[in-house]
Amino acid sequence: MFSKLVQRRTLSALYCNLNAQMSSAGVAATQKPVEEPLNSEYIYDREAKYGAHNYHPLPVALEKGEGVYVWDVEGRRYFDFLSAYSAVNQGHCHPKIINALKTQAEKLSLTSRAFYNDVLGEYEEYITKLFNYNKVLPMNTGVEGGETACKLARKWAYTVKGVPKYRAQIIFAAGNFWGRTMSAISSSTDPSSYEGFGPFMPGFKIIPYNDLPALERALQDPNVAAFMVEPIQGEAGVVVPDEGYLTGVRQMCTAHNVLFIADEVQTGLARTGKMLAVDHENVRPDILILGKALSGGTYPVSAVLCDNEVMMTIKPGEHGSTYGGNPVACRVAMAALEVIEEENLAENARLMGDLLRAELMKTPNDIITHVRGKGLLNAIVVKQSQECDAWKMCLRLRDNGLLAKPTHGDIIRLAPPLTIKEDEIRECIEIIHKTILSF
Ligand SMILES: Cc1ncc(COP(=O)(O)O)c(C=O)c1O
Repeated sequence: MFSKLVQRRTLSALYCNLNAQMSSAGVAATQKPVEEPLNSEYIYDREAKYGAHNYHPLPVALEKGEGVYVWDVEGRRYFDFLSAYSAVNQGHCHPKIINALKTQAEKLSLTSRAFYNDVLGEYEEYITKLFNYNKVLPMNTGVEGGETACKLARKWAYTVKGVPKYRAQIIFAAGNFWGRTMSAISSSTDPSSYEGFGPFMPGFKIIPYNDLPALERALQDPNVAAFMVEPIQGEAGVVVPDEGYLTGVRQMCTAHNVLFIADEVQTGLARTGKMLAVDHENVRPDILILGKALSGGTYPVSAVLCDNEVMMTIKPGEHGSTYGGNPVACRVAMAALEVIEEENLAENARLMGDLLRAELMKTPNDIITHVRGKGLLNAIVVKQSQECDAWKMCLRLRDNGLLAKPTHGDIIRLAPPLTIKEDEIRECIEIIHKTILSF
C-alpha cells in the first residue's frame, strides 16, 4: 500500500510540475492531465486551489460508494455515518434507484415545464397519494422547497386569510437550518450563516424552539401566515423537542388559522424511524417539505406537498424551476420512495437507532456528555478539552474506519444509511467505543 501511495503521489507531483512548466511557457494549462490514479493529498490541494472555500471537509477523498460503505482513492473502506446529511437513506448507489436514473436518462431527461411529459403526472399521483395531500410542487434542492413553502404561505395569507398586502409574517424557531439562500439565512440564528450577508428578508420572526408558550404569544399577531419548523433540528445538532411539541404546534396553528409548515428535508423519509418525523405524534402539517433522500442521494429532488386551498393560490408563471419535476427526477423519486417502503427502512431505522443509542449510553467514559436522537438521526455531545473535541474525534473515527462530521464544535451526528444491518451497526458501535476510549 505504501509504495503504491508513493507512486501515486510522485505521479501527481510530476503532473503539477508539468502544469507549472506549461503555464510559464505560455502553453494553455487546460489540457487534461494524464489519467493516473489520484491520491488524497492531491485532491485536497486541487479543491483548495480551484474551488471556493465555502466548506471545511474532513480530510478524506472518496471515490466509490455502495450501501453503507464508501471507499477513498487509496482504497480504504469506511462506514458512512453522515449519509450526505441524510440524503443517502437508501444506501449508496442503490441498484433500483440507479437503474431508474439510467433508464430514464437514456429516454428523456428534461423538457422543462413548458411542455407536458409522460412521467410527471405519474409521480405527482404517486407521491400525493403516499403522503395524503391534494397536490405536490416539485423542486430540486431542499432550500428551494423551503422558499416554495414560504411563497405559498405568503400568497395564501393574502388571498385566503386576508392579511393586508405585504404585512404577512412567517415564524421560525431559533436554531433552524433550511439552507443558504437569502431567505434561509434571514431566518437563521447562526452568525456563520447570516453574518456579512444583510440586508435580510423582512417579515420573518424567530422564537425559541420547543417552546409552545412562545409560539402562542407570537400567534397573537393576526398577520402571521405560517410557522415553519423542523420536527427534529438536524443541523442544530439533532435537537429533539419534548413529546407533545408537534401536537401543540398543530393545535395552536389550527386555532389561529396559521399554516404549520414541517421542514422534513432531513427528518423525513424514514430517517427517524417513521416515514415522516411528524408521524411520531400523528400530526399532519399544512405544508410538508421533502428533499435529500427523495432521490436516495443521486440527484437534487425536493417536493412541497399541501392541499388545494394553499397550492391553488399560486397561478401559472408565479413560481417554478427549469429542472423541477423533470422526468429523471420523477422516476428517481418514485424508485427512492419505493425502496423505503419495500425494504422497510423506517422500521430498520427505529430498531438500529434504538440499539445504537442504548449501546453508546453504556460506553463508560467522561468525554460524551449526551447521546440523543430518534431512529438513525443521532448525535453525541463531546466534552471539549485540549486533547479532545468533535473534530479530533471525527479524525480518529475516520482512522478507525467510520466517517462522521461535527456539527458545531462539540456535536457529532451519527446518521448511517438506513439499510445498515445489525452486525454492521454492532461493528460501528465497537469503532465508536474504541475511539472514545482512545482519548
Ligand atoms: C432541515 C433542512 N432543510 C433544508 C435543507 C436544505 O437542503 P439543500 O441543502 O438540499 O438545499 C437542509 C440541509 O441540510 C436541512 O437540513
